[in-house]
Amino acid sequence: MTTTAYRILIVDDTPLNLKMVSAALASGGYQIETATTGHMALDRAVTFRPDLFILDVMMPDIDGYEVCRRLRRMTTFAQHPILMLTANDTLEERVRGLEAGADDYMSKPFQPIELQARVKALLRRVPLPAIQPQAAIQNETLAFFSLRGGVGVSTLATNLAVGLAQIWGQPVALVDLAFISGQSALMLNLPLRTTWGDLANPALHEIDYDLLQQVLMPHTSGVHVLASAARPEQSELITGEKVAHVLRLLRQHYAYVVLDLPHDFSDTTLAGLDSANTVLLVLAPEIASVRATACALDVFAKLEYAPDKLLLLLNSTVEQGGLVRKDIELALHRPIAQALPYASEIYLSALNRGVPPVFDQPSKPLGAILERWAFHLSREEQRTQRPAAPTPAWQRVAQSSYARKTR
Ligand SMILES: Nc1ncnc2c1ncn2[C@@H]1O[C@H](COP(=O)(O)OP(=O)(O)O)[C@@H](O)[C@H]1O
Ligand SMILES: [Mg+2]
Repeated sequence: MTTTAYRILIVDDTPLNLKMVSAALASGGYQIETATTGHMALDRAVTFRPDLFILDVMMPDIDGYEVCRRLRRMTTFAQHPILMLTANDTLEERVRGLEAGADDYMSKPFQPIELQARVKALLRRVPLPAIQPQAAIQNETLAFFSLRGGVGVSTLATNLAVGLAQIWGQPVALVDLAFISGQSALMLNLPLRTTWGDLANPALHEIDYDLLQQVLMPHTSGVHVLASAARPEQSELITGEKVAHVLRLLRQHYAYVVLDLPHDFSDTTLAGLDSANTVLLVLAPEIASVRATACALDVFAKLEYAPDKLLLLLNSTVEQGGLVRKDIELALHRPIAQALPYASEIYLSALNRGVPPVFDQPSKPLGAILERWAFHLSREEQRTQRPAAPTPAWQRVAQSSYARKTR
């Protein structure tokens, strides 16, 4: 397999130190990025996805130990090598560093040759990253989530994925991470020919894009489904790390990745949530669902997800007597981004036939709402430009918004 260079993130509040560390590693052929504060380091970690971190201990905002602890809490970086650099070389400092989760430790001033050797040794256990596609695809990953089941997470994830594929005429990956009772494939009437179960084998170290292409099942809408295994025990061996790796590969090749998540905060669910640009928190207009949403929002705040990564989606799963939108917004201190109507019969028949409403009835009210909503959640660069070859779905959406504007 073709490979690129290892990526290293160097974090130090002193520019001179950054320069010296970068210079020491210049001959190694690494891709290097720097950060000068703890917060910046955590941001860069997400965007740059380093293979190794070099952390200064003393920094003005959050210190190196805390950065290290927070990285360890992120599924993606739980195992990545971290090397601490510090000015005070005391036994206590070393122990604190290791307790925070660091793999290795060096004191300043350092000998370049020793730093090179340690970095090399730490990278020995990291597989070389796969080569990125020539023109990196801009990706939007949308995760559908609720801590309470039965509120329409799978229904909406499936309809959105199909809507996006139809509007943009491009394949969309739909990933079912509800390993116990996944439904994405069922909702599209796809037999469970290949599933996550095929990726579960722990002996399978190298999951690459070619393999994923064999496991994803194509639907005529253009959606490619990574289905949950037919038997839950087949998925038991799937780790958060494996999920993070698979999602990373998909993000490199698909403009849109849609995640159907289970109602928990397991490692694999967290890997999905971490990888998403947007988390759509689905709730129904009833008290238990609002409580579950408040609880999820609380956890997201603790995980330090940016507030604009989260969108509240009110799905009316009850015909009448539900809570009022305004009251829910007051209780959660957040606006509801989108409300979707009650439609039990249409959804039930869609489920029984394995045909989502956005696919077979895009001109009927519910299908049209779902289609316009898929357009609304599309990437801004796409939304604001007329495509070179507009699809029928794109034309429907364009016409309806024209009709609304001129009414
Ligand atoms: N807006 C709605 N109106 C009526 N029924 C709905 C609506 N959305 C979903 N449902 C139904 O609710 C049930 C649970 O939906 P599902 O998508 O499986 O939820 P989850 O994935 O959150 O557990 C399904 O039978 C589905 O058809
Ligand atoms: Mg579900």
